[in-house]
Amino acid sequence: MAEDFKGQPRLPNFAAPRRYDIFLEPHLTACLFSGTATITVDVLLPTQFLVLNAADLCVDTSSVSLTTSTTSCSAISPVSIELVEEDEIMVLQFGSQLPLGESLLKIEFSGTLNDQMRGFYRSKYEYKGEVQNMAVTQFESVDARRCFPCWDEPAFKAKFKITLEVPSELVALSNMPVSDEKFNGDLKIVSYDESPLMSTYLVAMVIGHLDYIQGLTTDGVQVRVYTQVGKTDQGKFALDVALKSLNLYKDYFAVPYPLPKLDMVAIPDFAAGAMENYGLVTYREVALLFDARFSSAYSKQDVAITVAHELAHQWFGNLVTMEWWTHLWLNEGFASWVSYLAVDAIFPEWNIWTQFLDETSSGMMLDALSESHPIEVEIKHANEVDAIFDSISYDKGASVIRMLHSYLGADCFQKALASYIKQYAYANAKTEDLWAVLEEESGEPVKDLMNSWTKQQGYPVISVKMNSNKLLVCQEQFLSDGSSAAGTWIVPLTLCCSSYENSKKFILTSKSDELDIDDLILNKKGKQETFWLKLNTNQTGFYRVKYDDELAAGLKYAIQADKLSLMDKIGTIDDANALCVACKGTLSSLLSLLDAYSMESDYTVLKRVISVSLKIANVVDDATPDLSDKIKLFLIKLLESPAEKLGWDVKEGESHLDTMLRAELLMALVRLGNTSTVDEGIRRFYIFFNDRNSSVLPPDIRKAAYVAVMQKCTSSDKWGYESLLKIYREAHQSEEKMRVLGSLASSPDKSIVLDALNFLLTDEVRNQDAVYGLNVSNQGRETAWEWFKENWEYISKTWVSTPLLSGFVKSIVSLFASYEKSKEIEEFFANRVKPTFERALKQSLERVNTKAHWIEGVRSDESLAEVVSHLADKA
Ligand code: BES
Ligand code: ZN
Repeated sequence: MAEDFKGQPRLPNFAAPRRYDIFLEPHLTACLFSGTATITVDVLLPTQFLVLNAADLCVDTSSVSLTTSTTSCSAISPVSIELVEEDEIMVLQFGSQLPLGESLLKIEFSGTLNDQMRGFYRSKYEYKGEVQNMAVTQFESVDARRCFPCWDEPAFKAKFKITLEVPSELVALSNMPVSDEKFNGDLKIVSYDESPLMSTYLVAMVIGHLDYIQGLTTDGVQVRVYTQVGKTDQGKFALDVALKSLNLYKDYFAVPYPLPKLDMVAIPDFAAGAMENYGLVTYREVALLFDARFSSAYSKQDVAITVAHELAHQWFGNLVTMEWWTHLWLNEGFASWVSYLAVDAIFPEWNIWTQFLDETSSGMMLDALSESHPIEVEIKHANEVDAIFDSISYDKGASVIRMLHSYLGADCFQKALASYIKQYAYANAKTEDLWAVLEEESGEPVKDLMNSWTKQQGYPVISVKMNSNKLLVCQEQFLSDGSSAAGTWIVPLTLCCSSYENSKKFILTSKSDELDIDDLILNKKGKQETFWLKLNTNQTGFYRVKYDDELAAGLKYAIQADKLSLMDKIGTIDDANALCVACKGTLSSLLSLLDAYSMESDYTVLKRVISVSLKIANVVDDATPDLSDKIKLFLIKLLESPAEKLGWDVKEGESHLDTMLRAELLMALVRLGNTSTVDEGIRRFYIFFNDRNSSVLPPDIRKAAYVAVMQKCTSSDKWGYESLLKIYREAHQSEEKMRVLGSLASSPDKSIVLDALNFLLTDEVRNQDAVYGLNVSNQGRETAWEWFKENWEYISKTWVSTPLLSGFVKSIVSLFASYEKSKEIEEFFANRVKPTFERALKQSLERVNTKAHWIEGVRSDESLAEVVSHLADKA
């Protein structure tokens, strides 16, 4: 009978928890914990079984009892208790059918405060000169079961009443405010208010030596930022963003913040970037702390986005929760989209919606692989859940929301959302529930339109051709390896012609269509040479566009003549790049198009120009080593003039975007091997190394100098490597440590790369950070692969948490660009792959094959040599 419950995607629903009374006693020095769960269970259908989740817990079987209303004085015990390890469930069988209605299930258990950054774990930090343990929880997706037995699925919402027994001198936080504190010698018993209905993955606890700063929202909600003692100053920026975001969201969602308080805590060891636990949001230090003296402008922006994202979840995710992990994207895609809305309102000068196109671009990159998946993805087992926290759920999710938002209009969209939140508050919703509300409020066929984007993987490339005054459009699924596939989408097409006033909207519902644009063309009145046409105005649609030669020439003109919006400039080069990678366009035409950006000075556009340039520089090393130097020379010239305008030193009162642009440009020039940039980076590094207070190397440009140093570092002169290690060891900021880690393996010297990789496995590098050290130079990639294979046993045991282990696999595998290597890697993993990183592995291998295919395309580009000579000489 218990067999029936094994290997199932979900728990049976004949019983549901209503309230959890959880008592936990963590032992911070022994790294153990013990606890009692008293769960009010509602038996809904006749059964002899209770099936709930538990993993890595030692359950005291003699303690398990069920007190039903009919047996109120004498509790009954199960006749058997089976713990099914592979399914992480606990099956309790009772001697007879359980009475319908509520009963109390009591279970005592104990466990280890693990080092895996999931469940109930310990994080290490220094307090008064000594290393201490902090007890922390991370339950999403499926790890609440590692802390206490529970119905660990988002749809089983219940109320939580938490009590902790902890050393008296420590701060102990949970989702709700403290209701009572009783001191008992060295220990105290802290109880918290009962929570409203919530899902298990949002329960949280943090126990350690912490300090805080606080503020109040306009509604009087108390918001605190907790940090290690002495670091609260670094929490001010996040606190400010939090207060502003909360004020904004309560209006946007038209529902007040649902809890009496909000705490945000910086955790020294943390697997993800941040976690939206209800009322107790946890962060990596770099995602919460900001200090103008030590942090870059980029980090500042990252903190703002992260805070705005996690706080959006307090409504979208926590108050209204996805019914099952298939709808994870509702949580993540939406929180991502809305975080930009909040940040745009708080920092209008950051032009954050233009920066949003980075998200769209990474979503499109992943979704152009056959190994991608639909936004709504079937989840057959708990061990598959973590793997879908990827660019599809986040970036494609957020992008299709932006597409719908722009189609329906801001007001209509917001009204519908507010009504969705109200309707599903304290409950769960599926994707179709959101569409139904939006459809009702807007009167538009939202469901049909959006199903085509969320239920099938991939997206189309729209080919456009002009035929007299008609536009022929045709859609086909876009895949990075140039192959074709069968998808068709309902595409909200937009276009403009020679001016942004001159625009049109269409819905493309079939494979191809003919659009009459007579009215738009008439306006051009014979000025043939200044005619341009851009589809997908401001890149609000999740599709790519391939223009015929004539239209492509018009667009190139529009870029040179600076007629396009920033978003359209970004979209044009991004699409051209993707088409080139898929061998649907040549590298020579991509390079010619890049040349049209030579007068550009905007951060958002240049950032994309840079990322395209670096991809090209990387592929030509493998594809056409003969032309590689010349191509790099052209790319250097393209980036040199904006870099010279900005210089190395911060200008008085310069914009946030210029500060970030300087960092991008200098880093790109170093990576392209531009001698003067590398030399200047090294010169400034010497000065900075000898005087850390010197202003020659502010945090924004420091990494460019570090990479320059490492590029010149060899095993016969390891000064650069040793100096960077010294900086790493002396750094107090996690951000600074990350900068060093991200540079160490970029030396062309193989033995230095090996040293850098081995360093990642020492206890000087936190497990959460090691993946950042895998930025390996092309020359060092074979060394990295050998190192990876040799250490796989250790790596796979140490980094069990999915995002980190997948990160390892992705970083190493994507260094390569040949079919042979991809085969070799596949063989290595044949009997080593696990569900937690299988998706990441397959996608990375596909990327390797795609690059190999691109290399073939580049080699067959007959005009490349000539175009390159022309561009390099002219520049
Ligand atoms: N819910 C996630 C945290 C998470 C990620 C839990 C993966 C379990 C697995 C959180 O809201 C989140 O999305 N965090 C992001 C940062 C955000 C700014 C995109 C992260 O951790 O990278
Ligand atoms: Zn999120």
